Amino acid sequence: MRLKKAVFPAAGFGTRFLPATKAIPKEMLPLVDKPLIQYAVEEAKASGLEEMIIVTGMGKTAIEDHFDTSFELEILLKEKGKLDLLNMIENVSGLVHFAYTRQKKPLGLGHAISITQNLINDEAFAVFLGDDIIDSKTPAMKQMAGVFEKYGTSILAVQKVSKKDAHLYGVIKGKKVSPGVWRVLDLVEKPRENPPSNLAIIGRYILTPGIFKALEKTAPGKGGEIQLTDALKHLLETEEIYAYEFEGNRYDAGDKLGFLKANVSFALKRADLKVEFKKFLKDLGL
Ligand code: G1P
Repeated sequence: MRLKKAVFPAAGFGTRFLPATKAIPKEMLPLVDKPLIQYAVEEAKASGLEEMIIVTGMGKTAIEDHFDTSFELEILLKEKGKLDLLNMIENVSGLVHFAYTRQKKPLGLGHAISITQNLINDEAFAVFLGDDIIDSKTPAMKQMAGVFEKYGTSILAVQKVSKKDAHLYGVIKGKKVSPGVWRVLDLVEKPRENPPSNLAIIGRYILTPGIFKALEKTAPGKGGEIQLTDALKHLLETEEIYAYEFEGNRYDAGDKLGFLKANVSFALKRADLKVEFKKFLKDLGL
């Protein structure tokens, strides 16, 4: 079973970044100089995925334009001899194959996944939540694909979090089966108290097509939305699910502080910026 398709839910309003996101999608906010969603798409490509399915909504056309060819810009860069920029732009549009589908109502992450069913057919697929930026030597999804090869079930990315932060995540209860791998016994979306463990779901999933039946059974949960975590709980009734603690640093770029941390840390890795930027930070004398 080879994974080919990747789903990127991108229909949310991005209210945490207002007013910046009033007229531009939050997925287009730049981490240094690259829009957030491009990091996830590049991770997908580097993990061997070929077809990107982006779930968009009202006001998200900038995402489609970003991954499209920009004929006029390419001609202009060619004429001006800016070949490195031209190359960079061509790399974005030539990345992989894209398909777009629209989530017409903000009914939640589970709902966003459910509307991709006709594009997925009957195969396992990957899901990327673009707010979660993962910086790792081996792309996080590639690590997960290795676990999927072994178990052939849905695989959830997890990370240990402190008890006080557990209410921000889907949290699993699991039985450890090997280093970094747990068989999932139960899941709770954003537990208000008494989380079942310290293993929080991070925005990378490999899902079997059984998830679509499970989603049909899923009633609105937290926030009145169809939650993917609740659908996974239904999936557990008929299939095993495993959780995998990936290696890498994860930034919650959907949160202002996390976004700033990601920007600083990515800028400090850039050959063209790091020397001056480090000096600037040092001079702040914090
Ligand atoms: C979503 C999921 C949650 C998961 C989180 C990871 O929540 O519902 O289970 O832990 O992503 O980032 P959101 O952060 O979109 O509210």
